[in-house]
Amino acid sequence: MSTEARQRGPEAGIRRPPGPDGLPVIGNLHRFLRGQLTFIETCAREYGDVVYTNVGPIESYMVAHPEQIERVLVTEDDRFRKAEMGQGRLKPLFGDGLVVSDGEHWRRQRTRMQPAFRPDRIATYAEIMAEQAAAAATAWSPGETIRVDEEMRRITLSILVRSLFGTDLGDREAEIREAFEMVMARFEGVNMWLPGWVPTPANWRFRRGRKRIDEIVFDLIDERRDEAETRDDLLSALLLAEDERGERMSDEAVRDEVVTLLAAGHDTTALALTYALYLVGTSPDVGRKLRAELDAKLGEQVPTLSDVTELEYAEAVVSEALRLYPPTHATAREPVEDVTVDGYRIPADSTVFLPQWIAHRDERWWTDPETFRPDRWLDDANRPEYAYFPFGGGPRHCLGHRFATVEAQVVLATIASRWRLDPEIDDLSVRPVITLRPTEPVAMTVRER
Ligand code: HEM
Repeated sequence: MSTEARQRGPEAGIRRPPGPDGLPVIGNLHRFLRGQLTFIETCAREYGDVVYTNVGPIESYMVAHPEQIERVLVTEDDRFRKAEMGQGRLKPLFGDGLVVSDGEHWRRQRTRMQPAFRPDRIATYAEIMAEQAAAAATAWSPGETIRVDEEMRRITLSILVRSLFGTDLGDREAEIREAFEMVMARFEGVNMWLPGWVPTPANWRFRRGRKRIDEIVFDLIDERRDEAETRDDLLSALLLAEDERGERMSDEAVRDEVVTLLAAGHDTTALALTYALYLVGTSPDVGRKLRAELDAKLGEQVPTLSDVTELEYAEAVVSEALRLYPPTHATAREPVEDVTVDGYRIPADSTVFLPQWIAHRDERWWTDPETFRPDRWLDDANRPEYAYFPFGGGPRHCLGHRFATVEAQVVLATIASRWRLDPEIDDLSVRPVITLRPTEPVAMTVRER
């Protein structure tokens, strides 16, 4: 342990944080499984900002105060590593991609990949975003009921496939999308909890889908190595990416990052859009204001990157949807040494949850927190920075943050300037399954504006 770490370590006798007692061995696992969100809400209400949550074999703690969240993610990030939890399940797909890697490999890859997400590159992707959203919206007809959650997944996956590999993929575009959907089914419902070796149809489809993705991605890497300089897709940017020693990535590393981007980038943004469209649909006033802004700023045009900076209200709608329904409902870390948080001891190698779900709905930082009110983003409210962190924070903050916010605004603007969508479900209930997913299909009816 470094001298500095020792100095910052806990003093003797510091207490464990309060929390629900739980049963022998399983702790609070039964409560957690019954309803993860209700469980963490109860913990925050009854025990405060630092809670010993004690779930099953994992020694776990919840830290919900923005100042402490900032400490874990940003100011003292060297004392925490990314949590192991759930990473094992993702490894067979992501390999050593950015989301699951750590240490020196992660640092080199992050340095290499950062330039591919620079603002000037996002302009090209914004065209693809508007085109794909317009293609989907044009296919809808008035009176038709659509599954918004499925439609958004289709749109965001097409956007990512085209941004990654270019718009000239031909048949391979549909093939990648199909193979990727086969792979993702492994992370749905009960399949997620079954080990990879269990002979289930989902595991079999996972292996077949992954094999097909690998074949196509390695073929594309082969084709692109020579022409990367002249292309503006993300794959070409990754092929040219260098670390500080001027070294490029191996084919395997590029494959891992490509698949990581596909997985980390499409489901999350699809959820943000699903929630935004649902919330706009439940709030006629917000819908009217949004359409008025789109009419004034866009008219009949599809939005470009420079329009996005003008669409203040659309931006507020997206921020507010991400506040109420953050697709990443909690971020997890493990202390590499014993730490003291708010006067409580949290031991090395335990799991620390930083719950967006709680901080984003905390009455101390948000007036009327359960209400969807995009206008709150247009006032200059004074609140701690980490009361809102849908994209995480610190060195491991979301690499696709800018890509995702531009995408959400462009797709929302393209759809809302054409149609009004009315919810066909009474209530939106959600549950965390890696990401925060709706428990029921989100059906909405397409109406003339
Ligand atoms: C609304 C959409 C999105 C949300 C809410 C979201 C959220 C997050 C969060 C919270 C993290 C940090 C996790 C942690 O600290 O443990 C993260 C990391 C990451 N995200 Fe996103 N994300 C979104 C969209 C995207 C997109 C579009 C891409 C790529 C095209 C992307 C790529 C990544 C990558 C590669 C990482 C890992 C970064 C690293 O560890 O260095 N995300 N995301």
